Amino acid sequence: METSTVATTIPPIPHLIGERISLRAYRDDDADALFALYGDPDVTRYWSHEPWTDRQQVIAHFKRLRRERETSEFYPWAIASNTNDGLIGTVALYELDRTHQRGMIGYSLSPSAQGHGYAHEALRLMIGHAWNGLDLQRLEADTDPENIPSRRLLEKLGFLLEGTMRKRWFVHDTWHDTSWYGLLREDFR
Ligand SMILES: CC(C)(COP(=O)(O)OP(=O)(O)OC[C@H]1O[C@@H](n2cnc3c(N)ncnc32)[C@H](O)[C@@H]1OP(=O)(O)O)[C@@H](O)C(=O)NCCC(=O)NCCS
Repeated sequence: METSTVATTIPPIPHLIGERISLRAYRDDDADALFALYGDPDVTRYWSHEPWTDRQQVIAHFKRLRRERETSEFYPWAIASNTNDGLIGTVALYELDRTHQRGMIGYSLSPSAQGHGYAHEALRLMIGHAWNGLDLQRLEADTDPENIPSRRLLEKLGFLLEGTMRKRWFVHDTWHDTSWYGLLREDFR
């Protein structure tokens, strides 16, 4: 009887270049900027974990991403300024389901980079890749109902609020609901 082996190859993280920012893979020299970002209580106020307090958490994070990408497909990107290629934020496309052609997104910007439309530009690049590079049909985002900048960003991109999940996260010693958003390929504007 013949047997066949299906090789599973995880595609590399593409470099997506926009007008003012690009999405690129993390580099080791992003560690300080990433630690500052995820260590900032304003950035992590609506996040699923407490702010980082120890630089080792960045190193552990990079190791975990590398290890997990050996066996599962997800895309953790740095948002990098086109001025100096330094990390100003993050975008991720994860929980990819190729059968049902959908994935989840997450994003953050350092406070000094907020208010300029960089997250909007970054998500447009990512969404373009989700449709055209990965052939997805649907993207999902899970955000705190009180996270107004995040909700505004999603709604500007055409995401629709599909429901509220009560007490979905326990973080910062309290329960948080989730506003669940979805974007269909045909909704994107
Ligand atoms: C969510 C988050 C990324 C949004 O950042 P942001 O800078 O407000 O989002 P954008 O990049 O889309 O910028 C939009 C703002 O820039 C302004 N802007 C300026 N120039 C612009 C341009 N050329 N294009 C678009 N917007 C522009 C817009 O008017 C808008 O300001 P407003 O909200 O006062 O109307 C940011 O609040 C954040 O990092 N929060 C912490 C992490 C977090 O909670 N992530 C979500 C978890 S689910």
